[in-house]
Amino acid sequence: MKFRSFAIGLVVGTFSIMALAQQPIVIKFSHVVANDTPKGHAAEYFKKKAEELTKGRVKIEVYANSTLYKDKEEMEALQIGAVQMLAPSLAKFGPLGVKEFEVFDLPFMFDNYDALHKVTQGPVGRMLLDKLDAKGVKGLAYWDNGFKSFSANKPMQTPADFKGLKMRIQSSKVLEAQMRALGSLPQVLAFSEVYQALQTGVVDGTENPISNLYTQKMHEVQKNLTLTEHGYLGYAVITNKKFWDGLPADIRKQLDDAMEQATRYANQIAKQENEQSLEAVKKSGKTQIYTPTAAERTAFKKATIKVHAEMESRIGKDLINSIYKETGFDPAKL
Ligand code: LMR
Repeated sequence: MKFRSFAIGLVVGTFSIMALAQQPIVIKFSHVVANDTPKGHAAEYFKKKAEELTKGRVKIEVYANSTLYKDKEEMEALQIGAVQMLAPSLAKFGPLGVKEFEVFDLPFMFDNYDALHKVTQGPVGRMLLDKLDAKGVKGLAYWDNGFKSFSANKPMQTPADFKGLKMRIQSSKVLEAQMRALGSLPQVLAFSEVYQALQTGVVDGTENPISNLYTQKMHEVQKNLTLTEHGYLGYAVITNKKFWDGLPADIRKQLDDAMEQATRYANQIAKQENEQSLEAVKKSGKTQIYTPTAAERTAFKKATIKVHAEMESRIGKDLINSIYKETGFDPAKL
């Protein structure tokens, strides 16, 4: 009898160990934007590729629109291992202690996606991702969103139009300096709080690529949009380093491959998705869209370019110069 129950116990135990061995590795991927955005689509694409390539040994759970965590919380959650993957905007790494990413926030730093890719796809981009290691975070890739424009409830054609406006920003000192250079009052808010803050007048305006503006319905509470494209917003896809290094080597390789494919996809769709969002905002008829003249855009550049020098001590002069060198940007040439 004793032997029988021992044998049954052994069989049950073996089965549960086998079942456990077949349990997929779950990767929670949390982000703050809508599914129908460049980042939302890229995260879904990564999920599909990762699950295909690992033949189901990995399951990716994507949590969009701050359903799991807001901006600041998600960084903390990644560090303690409560989530395994994020793709925060490059403007949000200051609180983690890696201020250098704020170099991407410098106004008018990148003329277009090609100039930007020289950095994100090159050695400077890799060097910045490697700085995350010391924080227990591994940087996997850069995903594009696009170029930001200003919105508010008044027309904005010159820097003077910004005087006294309360402008929501992401948690970046460079963005704070940029808004101050325009005479406005910057206020850091989590992305999930922006719509309501605009609606209730807690802030007057903000800056975002159009895909973010449209999918959060900000255009419904912002009467004016000026297509300044004065700065870049993109993402670093990151994971918990201990988790990543602890994965079986074959799975890590498959996930690396899935990430490479998802990155190509992300950076292919971003521009077009922002153009589509702009069309949708136009069609809604809720927001007056203004395209600044070349002279007006230059005036914005002149008003904000001093932020590059102001931020040298925070970001590093060498880093700023190495990016000028990659892209051919000359702050003296306006
Ligand atoms: C923002 O907070 O405005 C953006 O970083 C949101 C995002 O992830 O694109």
